[in-house]
Amino acid sequence: MPQFYIKTFGCQMNERDSEIMAQLLRQAGHQQCFSAADAKIIVVNTCSIRAKAEHKVISLLGALRPLKAANPDIIIAVAGCVAQQYGAALREKMPIIDLVIGTQQIYQIAELVALARKTPGLIADALDASYRIPSFLPDAAALAGGVSRFVTIMQGCDNFCAYCVVPYTRGREVSRQAADILAEVRALVASGVQEITLLGQNVNSYGVTNTVGKSGYRFADLLGDVAALPGLRRLRFTTSHPKDLSEDLMRCFRDLPSLCPHLHLPLQSGANPVLKRMNRKYDREQYLELVARLLAYRPDLALSTDIIVGFPGETNEDFSKTLEILETARFHASFSFKYSDRPGTVSAQFPDKIDEAVKGKRLQIFQRRQDEISLERNREYIGQRVEILVEKSDAASCAGRTPGNHLAHISLPENHTVKPGDFIDVIITGAGAHSLRGEKLG
Ligand code: 5AD
Ligand code: SF4
Repeated sequence: MPQFYIKTFGCQMNERDSEIMAQLLRQAGHQQCFSAADAKIIVVNTCSIRAKAEHKVISLLGALRPLKAANPDIIIAVAGCVAQQYGAALREKMPIIDLVIGTQQIYQIAELVALARKTPGLIADALDASYRIPSFLPDAAALAGGVSRFVTIMQGCDNFCAYCVVPYTRGREVSRQAADILAEVRALVASGVQEITLLGQNVNSYGVTNTVGKSGYRFADLLGDVAALPGLRRLRFTTSHPKDLSEDLMRCFRDLPSLCPHLHLPLQSGANPVLKRMNRKYDREQYLELVARLLAYRPDLALSTDIIVGFPGETNEDFSKTLEILETARFHASFSFKYSDRPGTVSAQFPDKIDEAVKGKRLQIFQRRQDEISLERNREYIGQRVEILVEKSDAASCAGRTPGNHLAHISLPENHTVKPGDFIDVIITGAGAHSLRGEKLG
């Protein structure tokens, strides 16, 4: 039985795609292993969102060269966004690659690997605007274990933010059939999964660009249907575009008890001229209005965001606007990045690129302030009683997430044992910028 190894870079969509590819390879008679050195098939599932992500992929492929030289029978497959972006050019640059799998070809991985054995150098990277996500259910092996799982509900993106490579690597937005999504969630819940995160590049526009069943069926409808499935304790979703955050969706935070009080709502910049050049289609005032409305529906909502510093033309004044909005929105957490040019994007052509040192300085200033705010926000939980979904445990302690998506380290009273998948009531006793501490209540 040939062994396969999958290395995943990038986002949660990629993590889920790797799980799907692993299941398909297992079903084709291959066995998963967890070291490249043991594998007959190596799949590198790649990310190209920022230049740094792409460099990591290229350096891993370089590191695989001696392995391939020692054993030319190994199949090296590259999937994901870098594969899609460069296609045949990637193989020309790195001849150790036997197979390039585009983002719309992952469901064919088993057949493609078999073909690549006969014809190394196979490039399967067509990107079709009328692509449909095939029906797919996790099998028994894929259902085993795990208390929190991802379910993909859509793929691709139609927004064309000026800096972003995703519309080019993942293609046009396509929504998965609601019946397929509900069947997958049902199977996961039946196998003991307690928490589901619905995934897509822009979940808020689910169902907008193609039919997924009933006409006019949107993300808020899907969320309601998933939440209504018996037995699902916690529901989350990511990622949201502020311009598509409908009132119906915001209301879900009030009306659906299993929908966790956390929202990742990427802002990118607090300066209107920058948002305009980014093609984000909202301004800072509209963003803050959304935050206010969300909090009116769900006062305990924890917000996180994404920020890019040093977008072409970003002035000191623009950057200070980003810092200013941090003070108003007081995000619980944020992911912040230095802008990097991505091939084929609109902003790669923009003049007025910002000096790396200036970007570095702005990032440091932003992250320092965010850490202080995160700490202050986390301290607000001290003394509160919250429910933790246990993800890891040992004899004296455990770790898991709060409904607001905060990581919490919990100490257990003597003789209390807990296991992954348990819900426990805890009292929060301490806070850091990136996690909470607490004690299990007796
Ligand atoms: N440069 C820097 N950050 C980027 N992101 C997307 N494209 C770029 C880029 N070219 C960030 C955005 C996005 C997150 C996933 O990555 O903040 O929300
Ligand atoms: Fe990276 Fe975006 Fe592709 Fe995910 S969709 S792997 S974040 S480039």
